[in-house]
Amino acid sequence: MVVALSSQNGKRSACPTITLLHSENPTAPHDRRHHGWVAQLAEQWTENPRVGGSIPPPASFRQGRIGYNCCHSMKYDWREAGEEWSGPWGSSAAQWAGTIFPRIGECLPAGTILEIAPGFGRWTHYLKDYCNELWAVDKSSDCIQACQQRFASVSHVRCYLNDGRSLSMIPDASVDFVFSFDSFVHPDREVVEAYLRQVGTKLKIGGKGFIHHSNFGEYVNSLRERLPGALAKPLIKAKILDWAHHRNPGMTAELFRALSEQNGLYCMSQELVNWRGRRLIDCLSLFVRNDSAPENPAKIIRNPNFMREAARIRRQWQTQA
Ligand SMILES: C[S@@+](CC[C@H](N)C(=O)[O-])C[C@H]1O[C@@H](n2cnc3c(N)ncnc32)[C@H](O)[C@@H]1O
Repeated sequence: MVVALSSQNGKRSACPTITLLHSENPTAPHDRRHHGWVAQLAEQWTENPRVGGSIPPPASFRQGRIGYNCCHSMKYDWREAGEEWSGPWGSSAAQWAGTIFPRIGECLPAGTILEIAPGFGRWTHYLKDYCNELWAVDKSSDCIQACQQRFASVSHVRCYLNDGRSLSMIPDASVDFVFSFDSFVHPDREVVEAYLRQVGTKLKIGGKGFIHHSNFGEYVNSLRERLPGALAKPLIKAKILDWAHHRNPGMTAELFRALSEQNGLYCMSQELVNWRGRRLIDCLSLFVRNDSAPENPAKIIRNPNFMREAARIRRQWQTQA
């Protein structure tokens, strides 16, 4: 199904006209309140694909490392270098080839890539082969040290420790492609805003970006989120309800698009995806830096089959392995 939504009241708004593609649920968040509670609960019923076994980490990380994970303010055991998060896809190689590369292929190769929040370099490992220069910036010293060690022999990869919001080490108008996956889903709106402000100056005009961020804000006022913890917890445990995976409740696809536009970054597409459960709590935004809003509207895609895609990729990966 393709639905085109024109701008509100016939006025030209800050956001360009939105094209909604193959939406299974084109309901705006505020309209969702008028849906029955059965529909709301059904929407978020979890399919939680079971992830069997853990994925072997890259050989260089087998020694195990405990580092500080800045997202959840707790110690994180990095012994698998983040490879464990690719479990639903089978491996990071399968996730890169089957899910990430097809979504950013049109932006690659790129002269200079900026990766924000690379962790232990799960995606840096692939991105580095598509550029002349790669700058990786993370606020965790454990992560930056790990990346420096992992990419020590790759002279065009440079890793920088920051304070969790500054990109001052990157020259203005020097970046062709900015990338972040599995990191922007957590930080507060102010942090996302601070980065977007700087990305708006660090990208070259015409430079592009792909950022995976939270859309959980779309659900914060839903009946599901208003259930008392005592009721929700056992239902989550029984896998009847899904949970928010520490997504930032203050961010939505719409807000991200608006904040981007304030900084000269125009979304070409936004794919709202489910993460482990059924609700579309995440968003993959692809944007371009421009002096003015492009004529083409942002494509808004509601994709409830993201985890099914992962499961299919995992099956293929297992067959080939
Ligand atoms: C869940 S890990 C994901 C790492 C990597 N993107 C991956 O997919 O493997 C989140 C990463 O974001 C980093 N991070 C969190 N908040 C950050 C911030 N405000 N600025 C820079 N890095 C941040 C953490 O240090 C950590 O490396």
